[in-house]
Amino acid sequence: MDLLRTLHDSARAELPEAVYDYFAGGAGDEQTLGDNERAWRALWLVPRVLTGVPAATTGIELLGRRLRTPVLLAPAATQRLLHPDGELAAMRAAAAAGSVFVLSTRATADLAEVADAAPGGARWFQLYVGPDRAHVEAQLARLREHGYEQVVLTVDFPVAGRRERERRGGPLVFPPGVALATHLGHGAGPAAKPPVGGWRALSWEDVAWVREASGLPVIVKGLLSGADARLAVAAGASAVVVSNHGGRQLDGVLPTAVALPDVVAAVDGAVPVLVDGGIRDGGDVVRALALGARAVLIGRPYLWGLAAAGGPGVAQVLDAFTQDTARALTLLGVAGPEDVRAAHVRPRR
Ligand SMILES: Cc1cc2nc3c(=O)[nH]c(=O)nc-3n(C[C@H](O)[C@H](O)[C@H](O)COP(=O)(O)O)c2cc1C
Repeated sequence: MDLLRTLHDSARAELPEAVYDYFAGGAGDEQTLGDNERAWRALWLVPRVLTGVPAATTGIELLGRRLRTPVLLAPAATQRLLHPDGELAAMRAAAAAGSVFVLSTRATADLAEVADAAPGGARWFQLYVGPDRAHVEAQLARLREHGYEQVVLTVDFPVAGRRERERRGGPLVFPPGVALATHLGHGAGPAAKPPVGGWRALSWEDVAWVREASGLPVIVKGLLSGADARLAVAAGASAVVVSNHGGRQLDGVLPTAVALPDVVAAVDGAVPVLVDGGIRDGGDVVRALALGARAVLIGRPYLWGLAAAGGPGVAQVLDAFTQDTARALTLLGVAGPEDVRAAHVRPRR
């Protein structure tokens, strides 16, 4: 989409190089970063005609909520490095669009402040489990009173990927007043090192611990195999997110468009399957729906919108995705996201 290219170019021109590299980059040789986008485009769309459907709508049911779009905002760290309004702007834009904002553990706004920015907006909290269990439990205990509806447990981050572009760019410098807000008062200065470094080894039993500590359902984010998806369902996950962290963890893992069908088959309708990684327009959204995803998340596209134009930039990106999805659904000949089927895509040969 031209809009995304324009916002990306403007973000790149305006951001300090180290910040741009942190947000844009992937792990290793960035093979997975590129494969994610290419894998969606390796699916051709197969429309049906004369279906009597005038114009599609984009609303979906997801985990007890009616959303106006199947495009959600993925958790992403340190958004005040992109724009002073950071996570507050993203929360407001998601609420205005009838979407969901997923707040990162490594946010630069406190979870209460984000909740207050759009009280009626749907919000989930993404969790990295640090070594200090008591601190994690204290964080989780605050979520319900501030209206967070799900905990998104990220499971693909036992250590950071080998991010060479990030290393070349040099250390991220936080401007005065910018900090990992949710960890303040916990021995974390405003610097980039929070008490979430030195990750504790997690196992499937921890899903129940997170659920108990938060009193909320737990979504497992960051799996790529049917075998793990089955374990997530068995552990009581409310949903799973097929994700390779936007190509930032193990380089060379399979792109999410390739992983998705196995996960959908393994889950077999038990819980919703979400997906992210390289989704760049409405065509990619309907490809994901055709492979069985209930909804998708976008990362970099809205981050560039935030960097280029603050809250209105995020809103523009979400609106563009939603409108383009509506158009793609109509051109496929279906009435809405729930009517997209496997037969609407075919792999390129
Ligand atoms: C700069 C940046 C920071 C991220 N921070 C987090 C994070 O704090 N927690 C998390 O679960 N995922 C994080 N992710 C991964 C995203 O949630 C998402 O999986 C990924 O960005 C989707 O791919 P896309 O950027 O190609 O749309 C981050 C991604 C980027 C680009």
